[in-house]
Parts: sequence; structure tokens; C-alpha cells
Amino acid sequence: MAKSAPYYTTGSLSAAHYDVVTGADARLSGDEEVYAGLAAPGARVLELGAGTGRLTAALAQRGFAVTGVDIAPAMLDQAQARIAGLEPEARARVTLRRGDMTALDLKQTFDLVICPYFTLAHVPAGTAWRNTFGVAARHLPGAGLAAFHLPRLDIMRAPGPADPSLPVFSQALDDGGRLLMYLRERTFRDGINRLDQVLEYVVADSAGRPLRRSQERLTFYMTDPEPLAAAAGLALDRPPVELGGVGDIWVFRPA
Ligand SMILES: C[S@@+](CC[C@H](N)C(=O)[O-])C[C@H]1O[C@@H](n2cnc3c(N)ncnc32)[C@H](O)[C@@H]1O
Repeated sequence: MAKSAPYYTTGSLSAAHYDVVTGADARLSGDEEVYAGLAAPGARVLELGAGTGRLTAALAQRGFAVTGVDIAPAMLDQAQARIAGLEPEARARVTLRRGDMTALDLKQTFDLVICPYFTLAHVPAGTAWRNTFGVAARHLPGAGLAAFHLPRLDIMRAPGPADPSLPVFSQALDDGGRLLMYLRERTFRDGINRLDQVLEYVVADSAGRPLRRSQERLTFYMTDPEPLAAAAGLALDRPPVELGGVGDIWVFRPA
């Protein structure tokens, strides 16, 4: 595998440009509505892997009281800045915490736990998944729902672009420059259902001259979540909700 830094680490371009990339990703459209539809207005929501606060802020603006937890300081810093820009009423409904979703114990309960945008797929599909389902169950008071957005295996298995010299992402930046992303490696391992990708981020100036490059490693794991959730005391509440043709939101309730 090419020399690369993990995704979302401090100083990484994946963290710095997360909102640019995610904001242009139509495959995520509608996830906010799905999560908002899982709890009553004003409900308490725990977001595992809150990232830059994309959903944390949106749900707070809808009236939910949201606690967002993330392991990466570079993502949480951006979330803090986003929340600071909210109207005071919405801002007061948000709590941000650094923490590991596989071992979290906030000693409080919520009406809804969400783990959006493939966040669970960032950790190995085994003990780490079971522990994260256990964290969700621990933070529900024997009622409520836990929603996990997971990738589809057939999409993970699909080959990369035919021409790797072409960017898989290209977007103008506010400063007149451009962010480009190239898929440098993509390996799917059957059996363990693990997808390893190396994405090269390139930030170019308005004349197209590269200013910064960084190769960053993004790994996804997938398995049938039901048995691991069941082992943690969660039962599937409804058929998975398809989102954007690349994943499903799996909704569980305390068994
Ligand atoms: C794809 S982003 C999702 C961010 C946000 N929820 C959204 O939907 O835009 C995944 C986030 O999960 C975080 N993450 C990965 N492993 C984690 C863990 N073990 N505990 C908490 N956060 C984790 C990453 O730092 C990253 O911010």
C-alpha cells in the first residue's frame, strides 16, 4: 500500500475538506430527514461519529437536543466552529464531546442514537461493532431507536474507475482554488469484507497549480449487523432504509 495518513487525522486534507466533499455528495441527501423522523420533536439525540457537525447542527436547528461524540480532534474543532455560528437557541441544544463510540459511557440516556454516514464501517466488523451496538443500547432507556448508516457490499466490491489518472472528485473552493481527489488504490478483501482505499487529495490554486497533496487511507468494513446488534441487546425495528443507492440506514430498538 502507498505511504498514506489515516483519514480525519489532525492536519489531514480529508478533515480540512470534509464539508466540501460531503456537501457535494448527493448520495447523502435525505439522511437528515430519515434521522429526524425517528424521534419526536425536542427529543434527545446521541450522534456517534459527529464529525464536523453536519447533522449535529441540522438536528439542533430542528429542535432536537443533540450530543455529538467524535474521536478526531480535527473534526470536532470544525464542529465547534459550526455550532458557534448557530442561533443561540439551537447552540444551547448541542453538546460536543471527544470520545470513542466503541467504549462510550456518558451515564445518561437518549431517545435516539444515530451513527451516520458509514461511521460504524470505519471500525472492524466484529467486537468493535458489537461494542458500539452495546454503547447504543446503554444510552437508550429500554426504549427509543438506534440508527446506523452502513455501506452496501456490492458497491464496496465494485472496481475503481477505469482511468485512475482522472479525478474521482473535483470541486471549486471558496478561495478560487480547486480540490481534486484521485483514487490511488482500492482493494476489497472477500471473506472479511474489508475495503482499503488510498485517496490522493490535491489542493490547486486558481491557475491549477498544485499547492498541497496528501495521500490518505480510508478503510471500510461491512457485515450483517443484525447478529452483532442482537448480541448487544438490539433488535431490527424495520427493513433497512435505502439511501442514495450506496448504503442503508439500519434502525434497531432495544430487544
Ligand atoms: C464519515 S464521518 C461522519 C461525520 C458526520 N456524522 C456526518 O454524517 O457528516 C465519520 C466520523 O466518525 C469518526 N469516528 C471514526 N471512528 C470513531 C470512533 N471509534 N469513535 C468516535 N468517532 C469515530 C471520524 O473521526 C469521523 O469524524
